[in-house]
Amino acid sequence: MRTAHWHEYELIDTSSGERLERWGDILLIRPDPQILWHTERKDPRWREAHARYQRSQSGGGAWQVRRKTPPVWSIRYGELTFRVKPMGFKHTGVFPEQAVNWELAGELIRGAGRPVRVLNLFGYTGAATLACAAAGASVCHVDASRGMVSWARENAQASGLEDRPIRWLVDDCMKFVQREQRRGHRYDGIIMDPPSYGRGPGGEVWKLEEQIYSLVEQCVPILSEKPLFFLLNSYTTGLSAAVMEYLLGVLIQKRFGGRVSSDEIGLPVTDTGLVLPCGSTAVWQA
Ligand SMILES: C[S@@+](CC[C@H](N)C(=O)[O-])C[C@H]1O[C@@H](n2cnc3c(N)ncnc32)[C@H](O)[C@@H]1O
Repeated sequence: MRTAHWHEYELIDTSSGERLERWGDILLIRPDPQILWHTERKDPRWREAHARYQRSQSGGGAWQVRRKTPPVWSIRYGELTFRVKPMGFKHTGVFPEQAVNWELAGELIRGAGRPVRVLNLFGYTGAATLACAAAGASVCHVDASRGMVSWARENAQASGLEDRPIRWLVDDCMKFVQREQRRGHRYDGIIMDPPSYGRGPGGEVWKLEEQIYSLVEQCVPILSEKPLFFLLNSYTTGLSAAVMEYLLGVLIQKRFGGRVSSDEIGLPVTDTGLVLPCGSTAVWQA
């Protein structure tokens, strides 16, 4: 399993369906359905958490604030700075396990020795976009939500990357890729981290299992003649690492050669030494 190395984020402990996490100086408790074990909560920080996201019976949930919690604060990862905000659906604006993928994309871009154009689909709050921009790539960031795109731009500013060549687009990923084909635009690297279910800005329905093959297939014509990488991440349990690797094998490797690999990604838990799985990533590299 590939794991990230953070200083300002920490997964402290896991027990009875919940994670205890440190985001800078702020302690949060968030639900995680994978945490099936009812281990003893020995760490005193379980009782010191600033806020806890409580699931409701109806399927939604809300933050219960226990200690003064700022509405927004920042954490750093290397040269990047992210604005953290406790939001609906237990979101904070950062998927810390993704740091392994930010590093991989950054290394491939730095090692390319040529200008690199990256497309980041389902870009969310822009962490992967900023990692690629910091490594010197020009990036096209696409997300259906205007709010997420503004948050990503806030992160660009916080990271001192607001002047980098980044195009910020509020669009449906499938429609955008099809339009890029017609416009003849090409990318050397494509990153995507699609949700299991989503909607484009015009209400376009996104269902991962039904559309992922078609979306990756539609991406093939917008890859440059000598593409560098294709990074496909999923935190949906239905889509295993091996399945995603096979997708990239039949669609990308068959056309461009190179190699594919895949692995689970996860977060090390300080108190137990366990690594909590947080999804899988398949990578095609030239
Ligand atoms: C959970 S996030 C992905 C995580 C993110 N890449 C990261 O590592 O931080 C999913 C994103 O996909 C966007 N989205 C969902 N359906 C979409 C669609 N049809 N077209 C474009 N973006 C979509 C959502 O707005 C959301 O920001």
